Formats: sequence, structure tokens, C-alpha cells
Amino acid sequence: MDPKTIEWGKLDFSYKYVPYRFHRHWKDGSWDPGQLVTDNKLLIDEGAVCLHYGQEIFEGMKAQRSQDGRIWLFRPYENAKRFNASARRLLMPEIPEKEFVGAIRQTLLANEEYIPPYGTGAAMYIRPFMLGVGENLGVRPAKEYLFVVFVTPVGPYFKQGFKPISLKVETYYDRAAAHGIGQAKAGGNYSASLLPLKNARDEGFDEVVYLDSIQHKYFEETGASNVFFILPDNVIATPKSDSILNSIVRRSLMEVARQDFGYRVEERPVSVDEIGTFLEAGACGTAAVITPIGCLGYLNKRYTFYGDGKEAGPVTTRLYRHLTALQVGDIEDTHSWLEEVH
Ligand SMILES: Cc1ncc(COP(=O)(O)O)c(C=O)c1O
Repeated sequence: MDPKTIEWGKLDFSYKYVPYRFHRHWKDGSWDPGQLVTDNKLLIDEGAVCLHYGQEIFEGMKAQRSQDGRIWLFRPYENAKRFNASARRLLMPEIPEKEFVGAIRQTLLANEEYIPPYGTGAAMYIRPFMLGVGENLGVRPAKEYLFVVFVTPVGPYFKQGFKPISLKVETYYDRAAAHGIGQAKAGGNYSASLLPLKNARDEGFDEVVYLDSIQHKYFEETGASNVFFILPDNVIATPKSDSILNSIVRRSLMEVARQDFGYRVEERPVSVDEIGTFLEAGACGTAAVITPIGCLGYLNKRYTFYGDGKEAGPVTTRLYRHLTALQVGDIEDTHSWLEEVH
């Protein structure tokens, strides 16, 4: 892929090879210094714990350019903190936050010409991950670990862009158990979501929103984003649960909604019985950014929101505009959420 010929505006959300990635190896209680490598294939033992018992964690972030061409990360230390929280849950070694962000900086700068220009709708997706490697057979934590950061230029996650999507409210399958690993960004949560997602797509939905695994009554999140609901009287409700990922975009949006827009934000269990009161609904996260939810399919009934589910509502639109402008430096970063990469 030659960066000079990339049609940035046409990129989809898929993996593309770029020249450099960062590798770091942990053994006998410490990390090696790490280095940039060009080979995108990993050589690991066939008995590696990550392959059989899912000892794998990851993060997902984006780097974007501002109008003057500078490169920015959005709250990368929050990803570093969450990565270490995931590591603790899966008994993996932590990485000092500065070193986590440092590895990302190095990888981005080594692939700088592949970071999409401002105004193209594309971004550089960043995928840090850690694997339990080394030879092993029994169920126990690995003795060695591999930390990798790769980057790849991407377009929007939902190809229709900022247009409402339809979600199936999943009443049978669970994404994560109540005290399982739902709060960790671990591969197992995503493999559990593949079949329900396929079923939902076969039924004509774009995505799945899961319910709590105990009562199947309270909203959790989708397979790749948190959710929020706009209620009457300037209220935004977003599910509180110990088995969902603690989305950085969702936390940021709720802070913007509360502090900058004057909304009342309720982080609480949100029941499916409240569907009829939603004025608007949205999915949010690094990949989804903010995607309006036009329709929820629950128990053979379809509930539509703003504009009969065909248009994004005003609050979702306002949040989307604010977040996307903030992330590329078009409006003042009053919360000090941007970190420059140079
Ligand atoms: C399951 C899940 N929930 C929520 C999110 C959103 O998290 P963040 O806003 O930190 O990207 C993601 C990733 O984007 C995710 O995979």
C-alpha cells in the first residue's frame, strides 16, 4: 500500500499492512526494552495459553490529524489504565502507563505517512494487545507474554457513517457473565458475540445489544460499543453494569453532556421496560464514534426513535459534532483530553 495513492475517503474499517509494529516480550518477571519490527506475522508456541485458554487482552484507539497536520491521541492514558485493569483480571503483567503510550507514539511516528489527513473521515486505528505465549498445556497463566502495537488506517466502522442503525435486543445469548470478564477488553467476550451477531444480521439488524445475564432485563452494551438513551426533560441515561467495558468515549460524552450541555446524566441500570420512553438512542466508542440507534427490535416488536428511526436526533447529532470536532482540534480542548504525538 503506497500512502501517496490511498483514497483516504474510501477506506473501510479493515486491516491494512503498514511497515512498522512494536513488539515487547515479558519473561522471568520483566519486560525487554521492545523494538519496532516489520514482520506482521507472529511466531508463537502451539501450546501458548492465548490460543487455548484465551489469555489475551487488547485496546482500541485512534490517532487523528488536526487541520494543521499535527497528530493527536484522545485520552491515551485512560486506555493504558484499562489495559492494565484487563491484565490484572487475566493474571497478565502490567505495563507502566507511560511505556504503553510511548510504544503507541513510536509505532505512529514510524508509520506517519499512513496517518490519514485531516478532513477525510479516516483515522489511524491503533491496536495494542498482549498474548500469553510460551509452551504450555494445563490451564494456568503463561510464563511469557508478548505485547504488540500495530496500526492501520481506517474509515468508519459502520459503513453508512452517521446514520441510524438497528439493534436486536438479545434475549437469549449473553455477551458476558455477571462476574465474568465483561469489564476486561479480552478476546473471549468478542468470540461469544459472533454467533448472536450473525443471527441478528440474518434477521436484518445491524448489531446486537445485550441484556444483563441474570435477569435479561437491563441493557448492557453492544458487541463493540456502549449505549446511551435520551429521555424527556434533558436526561441522558447510560447503563451501569459490572460486566460491560468502561468506555472512554462514553465517559467523555457524558461529561460533555453534563458540564457543557447542561444535561442530567443518569448512570444506572436501564430497563428494557423503558424502551417506550426513549426519544433518541446511540452507540458510542472508539470505533463506533457515535452512531445513532434508530430502532430496537425486542421480542418481535420494533421500537423506533427520532424521525421514525430514519434520522439522527438533535441530541445525538450535537454530541457527535462536539466529539468529532474536539478529537481533531476544531474546538477548544477544555477538558485537556488530547495528547499530541511528535
Ligand atoms: C465491547 C465494547 N464496549 C465499548 C467500547 C467502547 O470503548 P471506548 O469508548 O473506550 O472505545 C468498545 C470499544 O470500542 C467495545 O469493544
